Amino acid sequence: MTSKDLSTTAAADLSRGGSSPSAAVIDVRNVCFAYTASGSVSVLKDVSFECRPGEFFSLLGPSGCGKTTVLRLIAGFDYPTAGTLTADGQAVSGPGVNRGVVFQGDDSLFNWLTAMENVGFGARLRGRPKAEQQDVARRFMDLVGLKGHERKYPQELSGGMRQRIQIARVLANDPSILLMDEPFGALDAQTRNELQDELSRIWAKTEKTVVFITHDIAEAVLLSDRVGVMTSGPNATIREIVEINLPRPRMRSHVDFGRLYERINELIIDEVRKSRARHRGEED
Ligand SMILES: Nc1ncnc2c1ncn2[C@@H]1O[C@H](COP(=O)(O)OP(=O)(O)OP(=O)(O)O)[C@@H](O)[C@H]1O
Ligand SMILES: [Mg+2]
Repeated sequence: MTSKDLSTTAAADLSRGGSSPSAAVIDVRNVCFAYTASGSVSVLKDVSFECRPGEFFSLLGPSGCGKTTVLRLIAGFDYPTAGTLTADGQAVSGPGVNRGVVFQGDDSLFNWLTAMENVGFGARLRGRPKAEQQDVARRFMDLVGLKGHERKYPQELSGGMRQRIQIARVLANDPSILLMDEPFGALDAQTRNELQDELSRIWAKTEKTVVFITHDIAEAVLLSDRVGVMTSGPNATIREIVEINLPRPRMRSHVDFGRLYERINELIIDEVRKSRARHRGEED
């Protein structure tokens, strides 16, 4: 752990009233999972990693290896067939308000509510007074750079704006853990860059623990404290956790950026190669 990691961890932990700077916010221990619908083919086998308080942890791996499955398990949408999984020190037994989830292209905004009403929806559900709902919503609209668009309806917004609203809506519920599955995957390069910067800024400001899935290695190096690279499935597991010990704010031009990019790239290429060789072996 670098000194930056230590200070971030300790600060985040103290701000949440934690007693130990090393306590994991998410602890995934020897987790196994099989979708029964796919003939009980084992998707995950002995997946283990932990996320420290306030850490930005990314998961990368070949397509179909099981990244979304890991996120669904942490979110409490599915249950491990073996192993243990805790979030904020509690065994995960279903979805919880401490975990906010953003999926790629998850266009689940309510079309009959304005952008601001969508963002304030969580506060409304909790029965907060109208003034407070608006206050929360306005704050998070500003945070994701959507000031001035409060009264628009989702159908009047671009895809990138809708994605910002989804992120604002999740943030407005103030989960301590943010689970993001390729949240920028469907966006154009410009919007994607903007949202990467904004997420980095929001993360630094709010000290949330983030588990982030992406196929974009540069995006992972730009945002993460550590990157867990998964093996190809079936029986996928974490092959290596790469520490991204670059100073923040991150610059793609940093001399070590390319080195870290290449390390992760090599791991993924090797996994894809192994998976192809396995399939060829099965066909022979
Ligand atoms: N609902 C389901 N029922 C049966 N099998 C599923 C289901 N969802 C996913 N799978 C299988 O589980 C494996 C892991 O899927 P998952 O979506 O977690 O992969 P992923 O790493 O997120 O892939 P991608 O990078 O393409 O998003 C795949 O082989 C997939 O076919
Ligand atoms: Mg996926």
